[in-house]
Amino acid sequence: MKNIEFTLSNNFKSFLPDIRWEGTIAPVPAEIPQINSALRDLEKPVFFLQKDNKTYLSSDGNLTTDGDGWQVDAFSLPVPLETLGDDHFKSEYGLKYALYAGAMANGIASEEMVIALGKAGFMGSFGAGGLLPDRVEKAILRIQSELKEKPFLFNLLNSPFEPVLEQRIVELYLKHGINAIEASAYLTLTANLIHYRAAGLSQLPDGSIRIANRIIAKVSRREVASKFLQAPSEEMLKQLVIDGKITDEQSRLARLVPMADDITVEADSGGHTDNRPLVVILPALIRLRDAMQSKYQFATHVRIGAAGGIGTPTSALAAFMMGAAYIATGSVNQDCMESDTSDHARSLLAQMESTDVAMAPASDMFEMGVKVQVLKRGTMFAMRALKLFELYQRYGAIEEIPAEERENLETKIFQRSLESVWEECVKFFNERDPRQIERGLKNPKDKMALIFRWYLGLSSRWSKTGETGREMDFQIWTGPSMGAFNDWVRGSYLESVENRRVVDVNTQILRGAAYLLRLRHLESQGLRFPTEIQDYKPIQA
Ligand SMILES: Cc1cc2nc3c(=O)[nH]c(=O)nc-3n(C[C@H](O)[C@H](O)[C@H](O)COP(=O)(O)O)c2cc1C
Repeated sequence: MKNIEFTLSNNFKSFLPDIRWEGTIAPVPAEIPQINSALRDLEKPVFFLQKDNKTYLSSDGNLTTDGDGWQVDAFSLPVPLETLGDDHFKSEYGLKYALYAGAMANGIASEEMVIALGKAGFMGSFGAGGLLPDRVEKAILRIQSELKEKPFLFNLLNSPFEPVLEQRIVELYLKHGINAIEASAYLTLTANLIHYRAAGLSQLPDGSIRIANRIIAKVSRREVASKFLQAPSEEMLKQLVIDGKITDEQSRLARLVPMADDITVEADSGGHTDNRPLVVILPALIRLRDAMQSKYQFATHVRIGAAGGIGTPTSALAAFMMGAAYIATGSVNQDCMESDTSDHARSLLAQMESTDVAMAPASDMFEMGVKVQVLKRGTMFAMRALKLFELYQRYGAIEEIPAEERENLETKIFQRSLESVWEECVKFFNERDPRQIERGLKNPKDKMALIFRWYLGLSSRWSKTGETGREMDFQIWTGPSMGAFNDWVRGSYLESVENRRVVDVNTQILRGAAYLLRLRHLESQGLRFPTEIQDYKPIQA
């Protein structure tokens, strides 16, 4: 095989002209298979050496200034996956890797997923959003008993229309000593969230504050991030003391720590998203963190991580290079075998391209016009849900919808009469939050919203359970990162959805990121690699 000809800018050599290599194992000619395997061996260094105008390669030996050694063209230090990201983040949560899998509502981020990740040095956030407290409690018991001291998160999903549910979930987390949560979809801090945080505060003998209830806040906006980067308001804390939820001491301590330990900046992602580009919001929120930290001078420093769009080694590395302390994945995990969704949904996801997404009305914040990112290919959900939102905006009550339009709704979208849908809503909310029904009975527009939310709520359940006959209504939350992942793994063992396991998928993303980091480092020294080597392709272990 032909020796690879490198284009060398001599960048490295111009700074360290006398650096040499010495070792006991003879270097091998730098040919593509050797380069490939040396670069992939992330635990070892790689030295590109020169002799008689030919390039050689070694993963052993040392740099030296002894003039008899081989001339060094470029080198890369080992890049074990554990070195990516912030060490404090890893030690805070007991992780090996600076990566966690974000929550996926309705338990799609399942117990199996959280347990597998926790056992492998990652961390998963259980998808508690949309589940009733009984179901969440079952997950707590199972995950705690399997993972014990190993890391995991539970999601606290803000649902402004169901504050009672948020309160019950917080009570559950406090009761079971859940000491790390992923708080998301918050627009402002709620009393329940502050309750969770403050109830875990105590002062240690050395005067420092112990934060037992840690919060990773997932945000995509500056104004929301700023709330998590400071202490909660005096008034809200006072009210919690009056309500007997926290002590005076906890209220005092809560003024001395920021609301969050970590902030996951979420760019364009699956599910709820502001569709922001990561390259724009991540640096902006890192800057905001620095400004607020210098203003408040907290003893603890809020770390900033990145999520949204991360489904390939390149995007993972980009996030770390922009200063993310850690990364969080989402969409790619739904297409792993441990996620609690249907095979049909998984197979649609495995075929999607990064452009096969659309924004559709969210069931939890339908009235506010909030949208979620969903799969567009292979389902008509996005189109149908947008139709419902259009009708909600145009009319004040179900009765105002023209007969022809209503019939269309009943036959095509709901596949039943709107009266019977309302009856089901009454049954459903009587168990969950009866105030919703009271509101609906008082205000016909609210009643219309509840009826439309029946479809939005069920369509995600259908996709999860794989409801036969409702495939065209499957609401599958996903982001462009899923398509990017599919594109990256095409032709590898991970192309087949049956092979996608959450620990392996996330490990491959990190391995690829470390590989690319090594490549970029070598390139900065003047090496230019052939295309076969430019990309990291996953190979089954
Ligand atoms: C199916 C699905 C459901 C999600 N549900 C939630 C949720 O309930 N709570 C939450 O905080 N984030 C949720 N997310 C967001 C993820 O936790 C993660 O932040 C996001 O997917 C990362 O962006 P990506 O999709 O581009 O990887 C969901 C994402 C998906 C794909």
